[in-house]
Amino acid sequence: MTQAERRVRVDLGARGYDAVIAPGALARAREFILASLAQPPHRIFIAADAALPAHTVDALARSFGGAARLSLGRIPAAEAHKSMRGADELLAALADARLERADLLIALGGGAVGDLAGFAAGIYRRGIPWIACPTTLLAMVDASVGGKTGVNLLARGEVYKNMIGVVHQPAAVLIDPDVLESMPQRSFRSGLAECAKHCMLAGAWGDDRLWDWTLANIGPVLARDPGALPELIARNIAVKARIVQADERETADEGIRAQLNLGHTFGHALEGLSNLSPTANPTDAPLQHGEAVALGLVAAARCAAAAGICPGSLPAEVESLISACSLPARIANLPRSADVIARMMHDKKVAGGKLRLVLPTSRGRCGFFADVPRSAIETGIDALRC
Ligand code: GLY
Repeated sequence: MTQAERRVRVDLGARGYDAVIAPGALARAREFILASLAQPPHRIFIAADAALPAHTVDALARSFGGAARLSLGRIPAAEAHKSMRGADELLAALADARLERADLLIALGGGAVGDLAGFAAGIYRRGIPWIACPTTLLAMVDASVGGKTGVNLLARGEVYKNMIGVVHQPAAVLIDPDVLESMPQRSFRSGLAECAKHCMLAGAWGDDRLWDWTLANIGPVLARDPGALPELIARNIAVKARIVQADERETADEGIRAQLNLGHTFGHALEGLSNLSPTANPTDAPLQHGEAVALGLVAAARCAAAAGICPGSLPAEVESLISACSLPARIANLPRSADVIARMMHDKKVAGGKLRLVLPTSRGRCGFFADVPRSAIETGIDALRC
């Protein structure tokens, strides 16, 4: 390993794997990938985000030389393509490429492509190995680790996000931070929302310095300094890995992996509102996922303080963190809090008709709460108004 390289183990016994973070890794993918597999594949299918520049896809493909028969499919990165129809198309392409049980699927792209391709790998021939090569910050620090794969359910005109899926761990996660250089700044910042979320959890998961480190290094991070990105990505993956190790299938009654939902119940409700923009410019609507999560983190902290769950000083600290990441902490045109709460009731964490919320309890720690007073939830939402 060179100095800039990092390796984080996701320790799940026989299903365990390494996340390797290495500048220039795509051009050396063969070396990393073959070392991660029990047996070398005869055929490799690369499911690549259609929006990626050709040189990124070529770098990965060329690294294999003649080591395996390669096929390439370009996948639309849109959420709308993350559906059973999109999965069907990809499965047909895998069959056309004659992938067998021990062959390999590589997902090269952002979260939507990773979710779809990982899902196809999980069900094709009842499961084949796959490797995640995430190309967005959000996918690097969150979606590519932990094996959650799936598609949206489209039924009777409604979209039910991630309602169909399997937990199918990748054989490795290979991250080349150099690909972040060409990401639009708004999308890059959006990925930082998941890093802010990890700061709010990390104290309980072995990194109580992550919040301070993020604040101290946010300048180089926002400038995408190659010296800062591997450390940012590795520390965030390490937090997520410890949580996944403790509750891989999100079945713990006390809500361990569910903690990763912090800010998301509020955020998903906002994300569905098409007229919300993080700036005065209406063409910036709708909110990106990370912008909605950032607002959700602020709402969760305000809600927790109003319910007496966390110290009264915490919401201001959370807002400073969100603002340091250049993410929105306030939003114009927010509908009535009752309407936002109605949308929150569609969340997957609702059980027995009750909204269950992950809320911060102190700096770096969270809990899972089933009986949060409605007035505190309204306070959290109303705090987001400009
Ligand atoms: N992104 C939430 C999880 O992996 O559990």
